Amino acid sequence: MRVIIEQDYDSMSKKAAGFVAEIVRNKPDCVLGLATGSTPIGLYKELIRMHKEEGLDFARVTTFNLDEYYGLAPAHDQSYHYFMHDNLFNYINVLPAKINVPSGTAPDVNGACAHYEEMIEEAGGIDIQVLGIGGDGHIAFNEPGSSLASRTHLVTLDEGTIKDNARFFEKEEDVPHLAITMGVGTSLEAQKCLVLVNGAKKANIIAEAVEGPITSQITSSALQMHPDTVVIVDEEASTAFKRREFYLHSEKILAELLKK
Ligand code: PGA
Repeated sequence: MRVIIEQDYDSMSKKAAGFVAEIVRNKPDCVLGLATGSTPIGLYKELIRMHKEEGLDFARVTTFNLDEYYGLAPAHDQSYHYFMHDNLFNYINVLPAKINVPSGTAPDVNGACAHYEEMIEEAGGIDIQVLGIGGDGHIAFNEPGSSLASRTHLVTLDEGTIKDNARFFEKEEDVPHLAITMGVGTSLEAQKCLVLVNGAKKANIIAEAVEGPITSQITSSALQMHPDTVVIVDEEASTAFKRREFYLHSEKILAELLKK
């Protein structure tokens, strides 16, 4: 995995936007895998800025989001459908017909999950998948113990995740206990994975995910098996890496090479 250490949240977000924008420019009909949570908000702000000021064009782009709470309708202000419109889609020129978020209200859950996988395949697969990680090291809502080969499925949220996400709801009891999520196996099939991590609270878990053993107890560790994963962290999230100095050195050498 390539690990990039940026000074702060702002530079982490800008660096991430550079990776996404490059793909959108080189392949205007690309497929973006998108994530929710507080981590990617800065990335989305930068993409909006690039759209407005630099003409970054999303007209032919298709998007697939990682997950959705089960039981929340798209109009619910805590649904991920709502989040994505509020933080990105309403401010760029992506076409509504090309936006895909798992349904939180599908009566036939298994059918809807299988259909989501089919739609990703029909779109030609995901070119770049944006990922955050949870306090327990999850990617999407693949909680500890999820199969590393999993596909889109219904999950029960871990107690820690419910507590983490309670900050967005009026009270903890309002947080849904179920969600539909792309599987670990689904993310592993993206051409490129872009993992964003910020803040001291996640320093230990991202170090374990990148440098520890691959284990279903930390589902982000499965990305070690992915051929093109870039992890971008801020300073605060970088302190527990054993090979921190190497990552800094490696990026410096790479930057010098690109200058030539
Ligand atoms: P966060 O969530 O970005 O709000 O920290 C990440 C996650 O739980 O995957």
